[in-house]
Amino acid sequence: MIRACAPGKIILFGEHAVVHNRPALAVPIRDLQACALITARPTEPDGSIWINAPALSQRAPFDSLPQTDPLAQTCRLTLAELQIENFPAFEITIDSTIPLASGMGSGAAVSVAIIRAISCYLNNPLTDKAVNDITYEIEKIHHGTPSGVDNTVITFNQPVFFIRGKTMETFSIKQAFTLLIADSGIQSPTAAAVAFVRHGWQQDPERFEYLFDSIGAVAASARTALSRGEINALGPLMDKNQALLAALGVSAPENEHLIQAAKKAGAPGAKLSGGGLGGNVIVLAPEKLVEKLETALLRAGAAACYRTEISS
Ligand code: MEV
Repeated sequence: MIRACAPGKIILFGEHAVVHNRPALAVPIRDLQACALITARPTEPDGSIWINAPALSQRAPFDSLPQTDPLAQTCRLTLAELQIENFPAFEITIDSTIPLASGMGSGAAVSVAIIRAISCYLNNPLTDKAVNDITYEIEKIHHGTPSGVDNTVITFNQPVFFIRGKTMETFSIKQAFTLLIADSGIQSPTAAAVAFVRHGWQQDPERFEYLFDSIGAVAASARTALSRGEINALGPLMDKNQALLAALGVSAPENEHLIQAAKKAGAPGAKLSGGGLGGNVIVLAPEKLVEKLETALLRAGAAACYRTEISS
């Protein structure tokens, strides 16, 4: 039996602008994870992999599923990378505590867990680079034209300062801080949100380039603040990033409602995280305010609220 797991993720700063080549900061959320468990199926013919994903009510041999099925395609690309065609049959069971379609990287985490589990089971663990490359291909099935930030932060399991097409850079967080992640209860349609922003950019490139530049500048300032341990600077930067995301048109009323509730309860900063149009908001939560903010978010209708410590 082999079990491999991968964390969820949160984008701290820079979503959407990162698709347009500006920097973003993202961190793994290790309290939430997707896991892939492999068990032998000696009664099945060699070369078959059964995919068992109870949360999706899916249980089938991978080669009966289309190329658009992310789980089956992850198996295919992993076997191709390993250059293995024949192997004793096995079953791969997926379980995950990362909420689906909420901007927390559930799809990428499942891919990373499957690739690691299969490659270890077949005695040829793949490098992080290979895992990241395969996961990026699968992200295209999920999200159309992803920047690559989600697969990178989840594969490397470290805070990343990410610029599309550049090599992965990590960044330091001098002082740990607490974030609340509040689920709006509305699934975040990342592909649609990215397409919506692209459409806006095509209609008014000058305005959107300005917004992307401004978001990129916020992400760069946040990196400096985090590396110096200047947590007080983070709240205003989160608020500024949120205002810019609202100007892009990706902040739904449900996001705004949770953000307003958090600000009213004293949060120094709050913003949506991920694709928006629903999904999650993240709230900076100083120790003294954590419980008050949690209560305010749940009273304002958050479907769930996770507390997480962000550190290097
Ligand atoms: C999704 O988690 C983040 C977006 O910036 C899309 C992407 O980077 O691929 C909205």
